[in-house]
Amino acid sequence: MKDISRADTALRGRLLWFVERPEEHGAGAVRYIEDGLLVLAGGRILAVGETSALRPALPAGAVIHDHSGRLITPGFIDPHIHLPQTQVVASWAAQLLDWLNTYTFVEEQKYGDPAHAARGAAFFFDELLSNGTTTAVAFCSVHSASAEAFFAESERRNTRMAAGKVMMDRYAPDALTDTPQSGYDDSKALIGRWHGRGRQLYAIAPRFAITSTPEQLEAAAALSREHPDCLVETHISENLEEVATAKRLYPECADYTAIYEKYGLFGRKSLMGHSIHLSESERQRYADADAVAVFCPTSNLFLGSGLFDWKAMREPRRPVRIGVATDIGGGTSYSMLQTMNEAYKVLQLQGQRLDSLALFHAMTRGNAIAIGLDHLIGSFEPGHECDAVVLDARATPAMAHRMETVTTLPEELFILITMGDDRAVEETYVMGEPKKPRKRG
Ligand code: GUN
Ligand code: ZN
Repeated sequence: MKDISRADTALRGRLLWFVERPEEHGAGAVRYIEDGLLVLAGGRILAVGETSALRPALPAGAVIHDHSGRLITPGFIDPHIHLPQTQVVASWAAQLLDWLNTYTFVEEQKYGDPAHAARGAAFFFDELLSNGTTTAVAFCSVHSASAEAFFAESERRNTRMAAGKVMMDRYAPDALTDTPQSGYDDSKALIGRWHGRGRQLYAIAPRFAITSTPEQLEAAAALSREHPDCLVETHISENLEEVATAKRLYPECADYTAIYEKYGLFGRKSLMGHSIHLSESERQRYADADAVAVFCPTSNLFLGSGLFDWKAMREPRRPVRIGVATDIGGGTSYSMLQTMNEAYKVLQLQGQRLDSLALFHAMTRGNAIAIGLDHLIGSFEPGHECDAVVLDARATPAMAHRMETVTTLPEELFILITMGDDRAVEETYVMGEPKKPRKRG
């Protein structure tokens, strides 16, 4: 047995994680231990197994967090969310471009004020951790101050996060635009200060082709070449009017994907938010480039953008990596459980269906793969960082009542996704430490 004499912490509960995709590997993809122990040293997983086997070998001083009977999964990962949109959620707008101009670009201007940004970041992290989300890839506003506030808050909480200031140099109010040079310089300075510091990572963030000139997309691509281990996050093919506008602004490009291809922003580090209105040729190029399609179900429904086609993306001949994300504030819930609930329904509308194991995989290991961090997070295999969420499928009277008829783990998981939200999150662990704010009771 593995030597666990240097363990300092252990989490006990019903442990669930994945080692493959359940859609492809069925039960072989799943690891489940009914009375399991996660044994940690310095926040990393040293060993995982039956409590009866591991507990006798724990050193005397180790702290045991006992959640017997509760499900424990890797912390949820949200690969597309906007820091400065917490007060944009639930704005009654027409579709994307009207929503951006009428509400979003007004709120984002406030993030030039460091005090406003700090207050927003504190709220944002409280909300993420309350919902069991331990990693996110975030867009900040155009202002460096917003990214500084984000990273300072993340460092304080020791969370593994990626974020970037958005680059946008046209079709937005003056107070929200940078220039190709200042966008490059500010992003570069932020990368120097934050990328790889503790658990913080930088995501280069050209907002989308409409709000960036060709010169700015070139500047973003230069950053990506100079910092190839930074993520790139952007938006694409979310809304039909947006697609038509982007094509009009880049007439030499045959389709929207070709714009990002032309400027060297379409590769294995690229998180392509929305990716709804794509042709077969574009999907093939996602697979060839190993770019990631990020499905944002609550946002796509709220803004009437369209239905993400999971099956077409996962065509066995050329499967594309998929992330699933909240997209707050176009999205309407911070909860990844509720996000998967709406993902399920979007697929139902198209005659597609993911089972509850696939849905849980998507928001843990699946999203870790999407953002290229599956060697660090999204799993309970030894060596991973221990970010975890403790779930209670009886958290509300309606859930407890429904659970009376449940006999299998997949049924319980489906109830959590369909009926659960932050109330079902009993605790959130970050590097092995309990960090859920605003607990009930
Ligand atoms: N496209 C460009 N910016 C945004 C944004 O902030 N939210 C969404 N949903 N789409 C966008
Ligand atoms: Zn977005």
